[in-house]
Amino acid sequence: MEKKDILMLQETERKRIAEGLHDTTVQDMLCLSQQLELILLYMDQDVTRSKLETAVARKQVKHIIDEMRETIYDLRPMIMDDIGWQASFERLRDKLLSDNADLRVDFDIDVVDRSDGITAISIYRIVCEGCQNIIKHSNAECIEVSVKNDGSFIHICIQDNGNGIEDEIDFSNNHFGLRFMRERVDALSGKMKIVSNASGTRITIVIPTESEV
Ligand SMILES: Nc1ncnc2c1ncn2[C@@H]1O[C@H](COP(=O)(O)OP(=O)(O)O)[C@@H](O)[C@H]1O
Ligand SMILES: [Mg+2]
Repeated sequence: MEKKDILMLQETERKRIAEGLHDTTVQDMLCLSQQLELILLYMDQDVTRSKLETAVARKQVKHIIDEMRETIYDLRPMIMDDIGWQASFERLRDKLLSDNADLRVDFDIDVVDRSDGITAISIYRIVCEGCQNIIKHSNAECIEVSVKNDGSFIHICIQDNGNGIEDEIDFSNNHFGLRFMRERVDALSGKMKIVSNASGTRITIVIPTESEV
């Protein structure tokens, strides 16, 4: 990966996080501020109503805390901390299932040496992007992800039974996911292959376990 691509990758991730904060947390804080004004208004005239509105405000605060936790997790998944590799994938799987009631999600994840932190986090981010794409674009009923470690290579497969990728992929402005996926794989001296047709998409990636990054 060229140095300029790394800068681009960083800037795009920052932009995504900034937009996320703006669209969710900032908007919710504005609502909360209006809610507090309402409480102030009712405080003297109608104590019961002001208590009810306070309960609503409390719920809003809890929601904002959850959103902030998501953003923090996005910046630094627990893969890098104590809870670790398997738990990170379980969390991703749970989230996919809770956001998409009819989806089938099948994860089969081998252990990967996390002392090589950058490989582990890169694989995790690749799988996240692959799953996000499936949810966003494919209309699939089923996602299968496997990460297999044979000691020399890590084999990753992200597969769906959706509509397939259109022939002409728009790699302009805001469509960096697949490109960055490929660049991450390149940077880890790996290979990535996409096979896609009207009955689904399969992305296979092979990364040497002791890649020179
Ligand atoms: N699993 C998939 N199924 C169908 N289409 C896909 C899938 N993954 C990617 N695509 C298509 O490839 C395009 C590029 O993906 P990507 O680079 O991740 O950008 P983005 O997700 O921001 O649109 C998407 O806009 C979509 O049309
Ligand atoms: Mg994408």
